Amino acid sequence: MKTIIILTGAGISAESGIRTFRDSDGLWEEYRIEDVATFDAWQRNPRLVLDFYNQRRRQLATVQPNAGHFALAQLEEKFKVHIITQNVDDLHERAGSSRILHLHGELTKVRSTVDDRLIYDIGYKDVNLGEHCEKGSQLRPHIVWFGEAVPNIEPAAKLTETADILLVIGTSLNVYPAAGLINYAPRHAPKYYIDPNAANVQHFHNLTVIKEKAGIALPKLVQDLMK
Ligand code: OAD
Repeated sequence: MKTIIILTGAGISAESGIRTFRDSDGLWEEYRIEDVATFDAWQRNPRLVLDFYNQRRRQLATVQPNAGHFALAQLEEKFKVHIITQNVDDLHERAGSSRILHLHGELTKVRSTVDDRLIYDIGYKDVNLGEHCEKGSQLRPHIVWFGEAVPNIEPAAKLTETADILLVIGTSLNVYPAAGLINYAPRHAPKYYIDPNAANVQHFHNLTVIKEKAGIALPKLVQDLMK
């Protein structure tokens, strides 16, 4: 069975109604990264940071996976599929994909601020100041903020090395180390990059760029790959 490695970004969830970060209506147009997505921000104003992620979590409860997420789940009928996602939503899970590695954390989880191993599933509930882990520390979003280490990057790089086929979907490839993962794919492996506003990646060998929305392009591409 061939292995397909898939790197997804905010663009795959755009058609579900979740805003991307860097498009013209993106989240980073309304919020400053330094105010809501860094450890400094958390120390300065934890209420604002919790509120930002509470809003994202509440919205997540109201949206559904789209045709792009479902197409990727279907690939598992014929391939060994690993999804490496920069997204903190749970739409790949809800579409039925089974092997998903979250690089930047998960909205539906929180963790202890004194022990990284204490991670709790909270679903779509808010988390507030004064809510503590079992060791008595404030709970924080289970999100990798700018400037923090990305604990899953090593397993992600190892997985990418095993790719017979690589799909890169809906990402501006602006944020490292995630954007560097493509470099780990074997040179000969066919690569597809689906993004209506794809970044310039022409230097990659065996790459096809599809400048279309994921919800339109993926069902077609998946059908072709499954033939
Ligand atoms: P960006 O907002 O940087 O990029 C979103 C990409 O999705 C853009 O290239 C769009 O052209 C594309 N796009 C928009 N609509 C699409 C559609 N319907 N189908 C396919 N593509 C579409 O988001 P990411 O690259 O995911 O990290 O951003 C990476 C990281 O930066 C995020 O994980 C987040 C952010 O700050 C953290 O918060 C730690």
